[in-house]
Amino acid sequence: MTDPTALHYPMDRQCPFAPPREVTAVRDAGEVPRVTLWNGVRPWLFTRFEDARTVLSDPRFSADKSRPGYPLSSAVALAETAVEPTLLVMDNPEHDAVRRLVLGEFTVKRAERWRPAVRAVVEDRLDRMLRGAEADLVADLALPVALTVICEFLGVPFEDRELFRSLTHTMNLVAGSTESAAAARQALQDYLEDLVAAREQRPQDDFLSRMAARHLADGSMDRRQLAAMGLLLLTAGHDTTANMISLGVLTLLRHPRHFAALGADDDPVLLAATVEEMLRHLTVVQRGIRRIAREDTEVGGHPVRAGEGVVAAINVANRDPERFSAGEEFDPAARAHGHLAFGYGPHQCMGQSLARVELQEVYAAVARRIPTLRTTVPVEEIRFKSDMAVYGVHALPVTW
Ligand code: HEM
Repeated sequence: MTDPTALHYPMDRQCPFAPPREVTAVRDAGEVPRVTLWNGVRPWLFTRFEDARTVLSDPRFSADKSRPGYPLSSAVALAETAVEPTLLVMDNPEHDAVRRLVLGEFTVKRAERWRPAVRAVVEDRLDRMLRGAEADLVADLALPVALTVICEFLGVPFEDRELFRSLTHTMNLVAGSTESAAAARQALQDYLEDLVAAREQRPQDDFLSRMAARHLADGSMDRRQLAAMGLLLLTAGHDTTANMISLGVLTLLRHPRHFAALGADDDPVLLAATVEEMLRHLTVVQRGIRRIAREDTEVGGHPVRAGEGVVAAINVANRDPERFSAGEEFDPAARAHGHLAFGYGPHQCMGQSLARVELQEVYAAVARRIPTLRTTVPVEEIRFKSDMAVYGVHALPVTW
C-alpha cells in the first residue's frame, strides 16, 4: 500500500519519456490514493484507464475551477476564471449550449479541408529551415507551424503571434503567479475583442468572421464571449500541438525503424496509426485532468464525496496494459484507438481533427524530406518541460 501522505502530486519524472514511476506504481497496485497538491488540496488520484474515463464523462463531476476545493494544477490555473469563462471551465447545460454554437467548424470533414493549407505551411517552414545547416526544431518548425495554422483558422494576423505566444507561455508556466497570468489573459481578451469588432465590420473567410456574422447578430453570443472562444482556441490550439510536433519528432528519432518507414511509404493508414500511437504514448497534458464532485458518487467502486477533488492521470491511464497492449512501449502497429490524450466526455478536445491533420502532415514531411535528421546534443542536454502544464521540449537542436 502506498503511503498517501507521501504522495505529492505531480512528482518528478525519472525518465523524460515516461510518466513518474510512483504514479505508474499506484495504477499497477490498483490503488486510489489521496494526493497532496501544491496548495495542500488533497484530491483522489485515478490512474486506471476505465476510472479516468468515468471521471471525465460522469456529469456529477464539475470542471468549474472557481468552486472551493477545486484541485487546481497551479495558482496560474485560477486565472482561467478571472476574465471570461471559457468552455473548459463550464458545466452543463451552459457548456453544451456554447459548444454547439461552434462545433460545426471542427468536424473531421472541415479539418480535411484544411489539409492542403496545413501542408503548404509545413513545406514552407521546412524550406526555410533547410536553408541553414542546423536548426532548433521547436522555434523553427513546431511553434511556427502550430501558430500559423491556428492563426489562419481563426483569422488572427500572424504578425501579432509574438503577443499571444508569450501570453500563452505565461499562462502555462506552472510556477507563475495568478496576477501575471490574469493580466496576460486580459490583454489577449482585449486584443481579440478588437479583432472581433474589426471582423464584424469587414468579414473575411475565417472562424471569427463567420461566428461574428452568425451569432452576434442574433444575440446567441456577445463580442466578449466570442473573444473568449478565440482566446481558448489560440491558447489550447497551439502549445499542445507544437509540443506534440517537437516531442513527436524526437520520439521518431529514437525509433529509427518507424521514422524510416514513415519516410519510405506514402501510407496514410500507417501515418494515422503512428500519430494515434504518438498521442497515446506521449500524452503531453502531463498533470492530469482535474474535476470536483458536485454530489456524492463513486468511480470504479471507489466512493467520492461531494466537494472532493479528483485527478484523472491520463498519461498513466493511456499506458494501462489492461487497455493498451503496447503499454509503456511506442508501437504504431498496436491499436492506440480510444486513448485519452484529447480527454473524454463533454470536454473532449474540440480541435482534435485539426491537430491530427497537423501532426500527420509534419511527421510525414519531416520523415520524407529529412531522413538524415539527428539531434546535435545528447538527450541529457535537452531541456524537457517538466515546469509546464503541457509537456515537451524547450528547444531541440538538430542537423541533417
Ligand atoms: C495535439 C494537440 C492537442 C492536445 C493533446 C489537446 C488536448 C486537449 C485535452 C486533453 C482537452 C480536454 C481538457 C479537459 O477535459 O479539461 C482539450 C480540450 C480542448 N481543446 Fe485540445 N488539444 C490539442 C489541440 C487542440 C487544437 C488544435 C485546438 C483548436 C483548434 C484545441 C481546442 C480545444 C478546446 C476548445 C478544448 C475545450 C473543449 C471543451 O471544454 O469543451 N485543442 N484538448
